[in-house]
Amino acid sequence: MKKITLLCGAMVAVLFLPALAFSATAQPDVSFKTDVSPIIHDYCLNCHEPGGKGYEKNGLDMSTYQSLMKGTRFGSVINPGHSFTSIMIQAVEGRVHASIKMPYGMNGGLAKDKIEILKKWVNQGARNN
Ligand code: HEC
Repeated sequence: MKKITLLCGAMVAVLFLPALAFSATAQPDVSFKTDVSPIIHDYCLNCHEPGGKGYEKNGLDMSTYQSLMKGTRFGSVINPGHSFTSIMIQAVEGRVHASIKMPYGMNGGLAKDKIEILKKWVNQGARNN
């Protein structure tokens, strides 16, 4: 009985995995201009452009694509294609350190769907699109 269940499970996986893979590649591209930029504008720019608290602390200016890609004084915060190792994503997920979860001081942090947009954009190559 167990064997049959396992076999069925394997068959289901074989049948459905290609469909999953297909839908993953068919995901619409996230756009820097229309999807990412508004989030940065609403939740980050306050502190991350010249004169802001975050900028003063580490030099991260998020006001343009170019300045964002430059990163902080210590290096880049985006690793195109890899959201897990991108410091910008680590910062909004509170993975750098709980005390510097971004947006700094915001209760509850950035909404999950917004974090997902940022992650997708990075995973799709962090393009200026
Ligand atoms: C209220 C001000 C404020 C807001 C809003 C804010 N930040 Fe920050 N950010 C800071 C400060 C201050 C630091 C430096 C923290 C430290 O080093 O203790 C910082 C640091 C960072 C760092 C560097 C982390 C590191 O380990 O080097 C990143 C990346 C970052 N912020 C991204 C963001 C993003 C993305 C947003 C918007 C979702 C955001 N910040 C919103 C103030 C802010």
